[in-house]
Amino acid sequence: MKNYIQFLFAFLAFNLACSSSEESADKESRFDEPFRPQYHFTPPSQWMNDPNGMVYYEGEYHLFYQHYPDSNVWGPMHWGHAVSEDLIHWEHLPIAIEPDSLGWIFSGSAVFDAENSSGLGTAENPPLVAIYTYHDPVGAEAERDDFQTQGIAYSTDKGRNWIKYEGNPVLGNPGIRDFRDPKVIWMEDKWIMSLAVKDRISFYSSSNLLDWKHESDFQPAWAAYGGVWECPDLFPLTTPSGEEKWVLLVSINPGGPNGGSATQYFVGDFDGKAFFTESSEVKWLDYGADNYAGVTWSNIPDEDGRRLFIGWMSNWTYANVVPTENWRSAKTLPREINLIEQEGDYLVISSPLKEVEKLRESSIKKEGIEWELDSELAELILFPDQGDFSLEIGNADGEKVVFEKKGDRVTFDRSKSGITDFSEAFSDIHSAPLNGLEIDELRLFLDRSSIEIFINDGELVMTEIVFPEFPYSQVKLTGFKGNSTLHALRGIW
Ligand code: FRU
Repeated sequence: MKNYIQFLFAFLAFNLACSSSEESADKESRFDEPFRPQYHFTPPSQWMNDPNGMVYYEGEYHLFYQHYPDSNVWGPMHWGHAVSEDLIHWEHLPIAIEPDSLGWIFSGSAVFDAENSSGLGTAENPPLVAIYTYHDPVGAEAERDDFQTQGIAYSTDKGRNWIKYEGNPVLGNPGIRDFRDPKVIWMEDKWIMSLAVKDRISFYSSSNLLDWKHESDFQPAWAAYGGVWECPDLFPLTTPSGEEKWVLLVSINPGGPNGGSATQYFVGDFDGKAFFTESSEVKWLDYGADNYAGVTWSNIPDEDGRRLFIGWMSNWTYANVVPTENWRSAKTLPREINLIEQEGDYLVISSPLKEVEKLRESSIKKEGIEWELDSELAELILFPDQGDFSLEIGNADGEKVVFEKKGDRVTFDRSKSGITDFSEAFSDIHSAPLNGLEIDELRLFLDRSSIEIFINDGELVMTEIVFPEFPYSQVKLTGFKGNSTLHALRGIW
């Protein structure tokens, strides 16, 4: 008997040890692998692309995302799901919406149907409604033109369970191959949907989210048309002088200013039916290679009033082959979008959210032009002199990125940044025009595999991914004042 009890204890202890070491190995392999971002959102495992369905509801910011849970390359799309109370720390939730007989679940948006206009909830418990694109792979394979339609799903339990509407699709396809990514907003007395339709944005209206009427198309002759238009977002913003203008974001792939995917924007007016702009100049939200398909949160309370944005931190040129195994790709830092007026024109600026300051663990002043980075996760605040400058961030093994200002342009060179051989285009030098912009301040965010550069709090932004084999540990400055600040940041997982 004694032997038996001893054996039982040994057996239990062994199993306990195994399961806890499995757990910690699992945690380690899931969130501490090489290149795994430590304070940017990533899926627990496998493939992710666009952010979807971002909505704030009862104290939670929902983030859904294009997700293929069975592979680390793009495939049958689901909506993955996470929630956050502060837009910094995320709790992963089970997959929210899965493919069905109508197709895979492509990008889209979510709204709080406060008046229960859809009838999918009750007056006492109105629903959250997700509006997404069905991509029918069979129709696509057969080279039909009508394989993308719009469907909806709803939740009456804080987004935990989603029920597909039985009358799906709510918007059929008129025979256009690229017909997708519905972004829905509430405007005065009706719902407005912006939809990417090949090389234009179509606007639809509805009183109940179920029946949609085509209102107009936006397709100015001078816009960027280097690739298909995707993931639109339409929202009003107030300029510092109190004027209201409407912003239309349109992602485009390929055809970005530095190759592959990027997001152009238009500033104008929207009268409930059509969008107009007086501008005739292509403008880009981010000049880096890695901020795509970004859109903004809906239902942000008036007391907050900010326009909150997040993008997918990758580029279709190489997204499927970046050197990560267990998961593929991250989101950008969450950003606040604002509008400023400049010489009779409007400029969208995007700045890191105030909440990001929570990540600061310690702060050190750095004098001089060469110093140690001290922390792999870092925020740098640097002050250039008025002329040209060069900033190098690298390690003792010669891996580095170089960000420079020469005349009226800035460039970002990641050709020696670490692993680059998975894509020839990855080593291209990215450049952005300053159009006379004087650079007063640079704010940079370094995570294990990304660098985000904000000039003058977001007047010009470059978001770039990198894959250094060893953490960057040194900073070299030319053409800067010597009073830099280094904030060491903490991870979120
Ligand atoms: C943009 C996009 C969307 C589409 C989704 C598919 O990156 O191509 O247009 O809905 O990704 O995953």
